[in-house]
Amino acid sequence: MELRIRWKTIILIFTIWFTLADCSDLPCRARSIKGNATVCVCSPEYCDTITREAPSSGKYFSYVTSEDGLRLHKSTGNLRNYVKDSSSLTTFELNVTTKYQTIEGFGGGVSDSAGINWKSISDPRLRQHLIDSYCSDSGLQYNMLRVPIGGTDYSTHGYAYNELPEDDAALSNFTLSYEDYEYKIPMVKACMEAASAPIHILSATWSPPIWMKTNNEYSGHSRIRKQYLQTYADYHYKFLEKYAEEGIPVWGITTTNEPLHSSVNYIPAKINNVGWTLDDLSEYIVHNLGPTLRHANSSFKDVKIITGDDLRFTITLYWNTLVAVYPETLKYLDGVAVHYYMSAYVPPTILSQAMRGYPDKFVLATEICAGALPTDTISVDYGSWDRAELYVNDIIENLSNNVIGWFDWNLCLDTNGGPSYINARVDSPIIVNVRPETEEFYKQPMYYAIGHFSKFVPRGSRRIGVTFTTSDAKMDSVGFLTPYNTVVLVIWNKGAGETVRVRLGSKQAELYISPKSITTLEMLNE
Ligand SMILES: *[C@@H]1O[C@H](CO)[C@@H](O)[C@H](O)[C@H]1NC(C)=O
Ligand SMILES: *[C@@H]1O[C@H](CO)[C@@H](O)[C@H](O)[C@H]1NC(C)=O
Ligand SMILES: *[C@@H]1O[C@H](CO)[C@@H](O)[C@H](O)[C@H]1NC(C)=O
Ligand SMILES: *[C@@H]1O[C@H](CO)[C@@H](O)[C@H](O)[C@H]1NC(C)=O
Ligand SMILES: *[C@@H]1O[C@H](CO)[C@@H](O)[C@H](O)[C@H]1NC(C)=O
Repeated sequence: MELRIRWKTIILIFTIWFTLADCSDLPCRARSIKGNATVCVCSPEYCDTITREAPSSGKYFSYVTSEDGLRLHKSTGNLRNYVKDSSSLTTFELNVTTKYQTIEGFGGGVSDSAGINWKSISDPRLRQHLIDSYCSDSGLQYNMLRVPIGGTDYSTHGYAYNELPEDDAALSNFTLSYEDYEYKIPMVKACMEAASAPIHILSATWSPPIWMKTNNEYSGHSRIRKQYLQTYADYHYKFLEKYAEEGIPVWGITTTNEPLHSSVNYIPAKINNVGWTLDDLSEYIVHNLGPTLRHANSSFKDVKIITGDDLRFTITLYWNTLVAVYPETLKYLDGVAVHYYMSAYVPPTILSQAMRGYPDKFVLATEICAGALPTDTISVDYGSWDRAELYVNDIIENLSNNVIGWFDWNLCLDTNGGPSYINARVDSPIIVNVRPETEEFYKQPMYYAIGHFSKFVPRGSRRIGVTFTTSDAKMDSVGFLTPYNTVVLVIWNKGAGETVRVRLGSKQAELYISPKSITTLEMLNE
């Protein structure tokens, strides 16, 4: 009798212990918007967390986010020996000997607006929750950030560095801005502290000081004045120096953000920008920016130089044509960057095709946000599954076409999708809502969609071969071999629930895939 009680006690203790171990993640505190649309609410006292579990031999871990409410929901299952049978289940065959690009990382944009919203939170616990949600091991594990050089459309006013004195080719008055010290640098540093991997920073200028430009304005149709091409290069060098002094090394810079806006005289875009002809751009890369960064005395010889940074179809212009007509640019260029917007008109294979013949050059996806198109009637769409799918589609298409790094745009915005001094209101994976009586932020389904990749595909992972057949393109997927010697497979199911098989060598998993869901699976490569 006594013995029995003892055993019961021991079993009880073990049960509690396992339950606690299983519950070490704090679940999403869901708030229903309408129907099955929900956001996860974080307050100073509570914010959901998710930790990656290292899979052991013979087991897999899966994480599921679904339209009907799962958010990176973790479970585990057993692998079985693969037996060829007559089963008609959809089977994902993973081939670790077919290796593609090496992944550099995932991240988002530290715009002024992101920093302003983050700093508008007065409770330090909630501010930390936001940083941890993106950067720490209990969040999405971002390892890249995009930091604008000066102002963007997500600022409260147009500005650049060294605006005065005018025509100052020596940049004698180059200082960082209030926004750098108040918002961007603190946010980057907080992320660097929270992250377990080094954060690689990508930077770009939207508009330089207007005296460098032909039209003397932040927006509109313009070029860099010829006599200031070297000054524009020095402007970037000085930015790299200032950030290095703050303890923030910059990994790469692009030649300019979205130059197309002001290269062609179409719709007068209100966004701060500057345009390029290919003549000017090649001259700038070959005679100014390249030599300035790669110079024997440069402190920034390893900073990557990336061209493009514009809509997907421009890759034919800012890459194919540029390097064909001006092959000397290849001496300095490390790669090309593309944005998400309006890509429906050009197939994603344009990316792989463009890079064929340049195996040592890369493609980055540097910007996406939902709600930005002229056809979008709503900027912040709480709980939208469509927007989560927009992100998944973007990430899978990009990674399947040799993109090595992927960036979301504003890390967080306010409930109106701003601030933006030109009223360019859009959505963000995190929406901050600060009112006198309560402070909260909301994690949109987009946030979890990104996490299916960023959290499980660390820097140095290789994309691997995945083959499968589904009817009517109902599922999509992409696979990786990670530096932990695990295999990660992301499956996006656009339709009804279905049981599938995942085969890796002599092992297989059989699992149910929820309707309208994203599933990440991780198992040892054994
Ligand atoms: C969620 O709600 C929408 C709209 O009512 C519906 O079309 C969809 O099937 C629902 N999804 C799930 C997974 O329940
Ligand atoms: C796996 O990929 C390798 C290299 O691409 C190829 O030779 C091999 O046939 C593939 N294996 C299977 C089972 O498809
Ligand atoms: C230097 O820049 C600051 C603004 O950052 C401006 O107030 C000041 O007038 C400038 N100095 C000169 C000499 O133009
Ligand atoms: C590099 O800097 C040193 C010391 O400032 C200078 O003597 C040298 O000429 C510079 N080299 C080049 C290539 O400019
Ligand atoms: C990524 O995919 C999206 C959506 O399909 C597309 O708009 C974007 O241009 C792509 N970017 C890259 C770098 O592949």
